[in-house]
Amino acid sequence: MPETKKIFDEVAKHYDWLNTLFSLGIHKLWRKKLADELFDTAYNLDIATGTAEVAIEVAIKHPSVRTVGIDPSMNMLRLAKKKIEDLDFKEKIVLVSATAENLPFEEKQFDSVTIAFGIRNTVDYKLSLKEIRRVLRKNGRLFILEFAIPRNPIFKPLYMFYFKVLMPLVGSIYGRGKEYKYLAESAASFPQREDFLRNLKNAGFQDCRYSELTMGVVALYYATK
Ligand SMILES: C[S@@+](CC[C@H](N)C(=O)[O-])C[C@H]1O[C@@H](n2cnc3c(N)ncnc32)[C@H](O)[C@@H]1O
Repeated sequence: MPETKKIFDEVAKHYDWLNTLFSLGIHKLWRKKLADELFDTAYNLDIATGTAEVAIEVAIKHPSVRTVGIDPSMNMLRLAKKKIEDLDFKEKIVLVSATAENLPFEEKQFDSVTIAFGIRNTVDYKLSLKEIRRVLRKNGRLFILEFAIPRNPIFKPLYMFYFKVLMPLVGSIYGRGKEYKYLAESAASFPQREDFLRNLKNAGFQDCRYSELTMGVVALYYATK
């Protein structure tokens, strides 16, 4: 099992702008779409918050929402803290060092949980889903953004070349080829679409569904406790 905390500690410095480069800026739209969904939330938990991109998007779209962002990577959290201070969002976003498998919160604390490109990086995603359900209130909602492999037979091979070859190659320019290779491989092997919905249902969630974004390269999963 790769040490994902170490991987993200190492890529943290380049994380935000490589995301922009690799997704041609589209990654911001995916997080905006996720943030749009939090219209009836007061207290949100953002798991694998990284550099707090989702938490910040939520704070901009829904100024009354309070978010707790958790992540085990101290380097990611350091960058997140700086961004939150610069934006004067300290009242809206609190950061905690923790993993999804062992959430340091009482049960039924949160109205919603968000995770963007983080669930596949957890050591035990099934345990993480159970933990998430524990900390959500009744009818609380879970939103997960995760990479998917597109199904279109013409687009798929082009995308796979980009994802598995070009991305690690560009990452290697910054000494992080191995890490980006892992990220691409983990995305390809993680359960997707109906398979992932089954995992959500097995963890006890209801009303599980997903929508595809950007020709199916990303899926947004919805589930309710
Ligand atoms: C691809 S980044 C996503 C960051 C952020 N959500 C975003 O949208 O940019 C994945 C994050 O998962 C974090 N992570 C790794 N293992 C984790 C775990 N067991 N529990 C929670 N987060 C974890 C990493 O430290 C990293 O910050």
